[in-house]
Amino acid sequence: MMKVLVCSWCALGGVRAQFPRACSSVEAIESKRCCPSPNTDPGDACGARSGRGSAAPCARTRALGGERNFAGYDCGECKFGWTGPTCNLRKAPVTRKNIMSLSVEERQVFLEALQLSKRTIHPQYVIATEHWLGLIDHQTNQTRFSNITVYDLFVWQHYYSVRDTLLGPGRPFKGIDFSHKGPAFITWHRYHLLSLERDLQKLIGDENFAIPYWNFATGSSECEVCTDDLLGGEDPSDPSLISPRSAFSDWGIVCDSLDEYNRLVTLCNGTREGPLRRGRRERHNFTLPTMDDVHRCLQLRDFDSPPYFTNSTFSFRNALEGFDKADGELDNAVTGLHNLVHDFLSGTNALPHSAANDPVFVVLHAFTDAIFEEWMRRFLKNDSFPEEMAPIGHNRHFNMVPFFPPVTNEELYIPSIQLGYSYELDLTDPVQSQAVFLIAGSCLALLVLIALAVLFARQTRRREYEPLVSAGYPTVKYTEEA
Ligand SMILES: *[C@@H]1O[C@H](CO)[C@@H](O)[C@H](O)[C@H]1NC(C)=O
Ligand SMILES: *[C@@H]1O[C@H](CO)[C@@H](O)[C@H](O)[C@H]1NC(C)=O
Ligand SMILES: *[C@@H]1O[C@H](CO)[C@@H](O)[C@H](O)[C@H]1NC(C)=O
Ligand SMILES: *[C@@H]1O[C@H](CO)[C@@H](O)[C@H](O)[C@H]1NC(C)=O
Ligand SMILES: *[C@@H]1O[C@H](CO)[C@@H](O)[C@H](O)[C@H]1NC(C)=O
Ligand SMILES: *[C@@H]1O[C@H](CO)[C@@H](O)[C@H](O)[C@H]1NC(C)=O
Repeated sequence: MMKVLVCSWCALGGVRAQFPRACSSVEAIESKRCCPSPNTDPGDACGARSGRGSAAPCARTRALGGERNFAGYDCGECKFGWTGPTCNLRKAPVTRKNIMSLSVEERQVFLEALQLSKRTIHPQYVIATEHWLGLIDHQTNQTRFSNITVYDLFVWQHYYSVRDTLLGPGRPFKGIDFSHKGPAFITWHRYHLLSLERDLQKLIGDENFAIPYWNFATGSSECEVCTDDLLGGEDPSDPSLISPRSAFSDWGIVCDSLDEYNRLVTLCNGTREGPLRRGRRERHNFTLPTMDDVHRCLQLRDFDSPPYFTNSTFSFRNALEGFDKADGELDNAVTGLHNLVHDFLSGTNALPHSAANDPVFVVLHAFTDAIFEEWMRRFLKNDSFPEEMAPIGHNRHFNMVPFFPPVTNEELYIPSIQLGYSYELDLTDPVQSQAVFLIAGSCLALLVLIALAVLFARQTRRREYEPLVSAGYPTVKYTEEA
């Protein structure tokens, strides 16, 4: 059996993953083994000497750093939600706020963090620019990896998770999607956002930084975050482009030319392929989802339902993803919630492989995740995340492609507070809470009645058996007064 590292190295054999720069050498690829040290001690391979990790055979590589909370390709980090030198302390959760109610300074911090991430080479990860068999150029004896910026890695991860699987030149297989059309839609995007959030925290040196969310359920035909002081307004001379007054007008997109990669039997290599676009012109009567839609999908008790796909009915996941009506009824003509917002934004956002290029993706998915968080608060016990029968990559214990080190859907299917963040948001259904209020009110009234009845009975008894003592009490009775 192949010996692999630690913090688990299975993925190396199939290269379904982003790559740690430290493992991108010819030796690492040829030996399928890579055990970088998490510190300055070169002998501390995989953090084995410092007790953080160890090399292990592929089949056993599951929990990162064993039972403990170490994470990262070299066990040099803590899992989300943990902190401290040995990762055994709970990290105080960061708070994700509504982008529309950030202070001017908070907004600046977020926008500048995004800009910085778009131009800073990712310190830890590189991308494979060729498929597994072509990873080593045997003529030059060099590997085919490429540097990529922090934000563009975020885009590449999303592209990679939905890209066609190539069976050979001109034979793309389009049936696999690791991050959409199944239960992993929720957990995959949750991890994706957490990874970006952590990268941004490191970039700006503030571990309390949190990405904001955009409550897209406005029912409006306007994109309120598409303004020059937020994520970019329209260019007056070409409304499909971002206004030159916004720094996002300079953002070049990556990983857009899917057909070209298929034709050349290659992967997205991170080169810029043109400007960000939003197809506002085509929008016509398009309106965003409404809060009513959000409340309706939050009535669905089942997280997902067979066949765990786009035709699942009364599945919270499928309704939130947007293939069902918000109330969970299947209707092939419907585009709802999350999907509708992508369609509304159109342009770069219209297709999954390129959508993450638009920074609106970040705040759109933060809100989608917030809706899931509310679902979890209500119904976590009604647990229908499938163990099997879901599409590839979507079962509970499957790894989420292409994240490295490997992480399963189940690890993200826990309340956000345990992952180190929470939302400043109230998604309580006003109609529901009125009903709850009425029921609670009736119960309270009943309790008061019972209490008074008991009191009455007692006092009656007291009067029977303890006339002297009871004589001193005021004996006004509710029933008498009526
Ligand atoms: C390729 O380079 C690696 C080290 O980078 C070396 O170990 C290996 O022998 C080289 N292979 C050939 C065919 O030159
Ligand atoms: C990739 O980035 C690293 C770290 O920033 C740098 O040392 C290296 O020279 C870069 N490689 C290329 C090919 O640009
Ligand atoms: C990167 O990919 C693009 C588009 O597929 C291609 O035109 C370009 O030649 C590639 N660059 C490198 C260095 O491979
Ligand atoms: C917009 O909506 C109106 C009324 O709902 C409808 O008559 C019209 O055809 C729609 N236009 C487009 C372009 O969809
Ligand atoms: C889970 O949801 C299903 C379908 O809505 C429902 O029949 C069942 O009673 C729920 N179970 C719990 C424990 O809430
Ligand atoms: C769901 O869609 C899949 C793929 O199109 C199809 O094979 C399956 O029969 C459908 N299942 C149901 C219950 O409609």
